[in-house]
Amino acid sequence: MKNQQLNCLWTPDQAFILEQQAFINSEIKKLGPKKLLELADSAARARKLSYSPYSDYPVGAALLTTSAKIYLGTNIERASYSETNHAEETAVTAAILDKAIEKEGRRFIRAMAVAHTGTSASCGRCRQIMAEHADNCLVIMADIKGQINSITSLRLLLPMAFTPTDLGTD
Ligand code: THU
Ligand code: ZN
Repeated sequence: MKNQQLNCLWTPDQAFILEQQAFINSEIKKLGPKKLLELADSAARARKLSYSPYSDYPVGAALLTTSAKIYLGTNIERASYSETNHAEETAVTAAILDKAIEKEGRRFIRAMAVAHTGTSASCGRCRQIMAEHADNCLVIMADIKGQINSITSLRLLLPMAFTPTDLGTD
């Protein structure tokens, strides 16, 4: 790399982090503890529907739409492995099959709660799937009993996202 290019490094700056903290806090306040816990509990309940005989790693998801509907999702595996559907993905599919796009437009996700063991967040592919249907949303990580481990934002999980806007569509 030539010297004059060194100022091209990109990392999330303080303003971006503060903006995301403000977004998360504002959404937490607007939704309230009851709704957040309902989402985490719904994700933990959805996890019990998992079909994951190969990984033995059940995951549950609960998607809150911009019009306050909740859709459940869980991971569904196949013997060929790569055809596995992730919990977040099936929640998005459930919402779309119930006409979420028709009713609310492409950006219909307000929050996504996910329940599994461990403290990680959704995989990269699920982050991309969420970015198709939200410019930003809350991501709530819960344990298998439905207790909340952490709450963050999609933009923090997927900064510099590639979105439909980059293709010149809405
Ligand atoms: N899994 C999800 O459902 N969501 C994620 O984002 C992480 C991974 C599932 C897929 C697979 O059935 C199991 O967890 C182990 O990878
Ligand atoms: Zn995933």
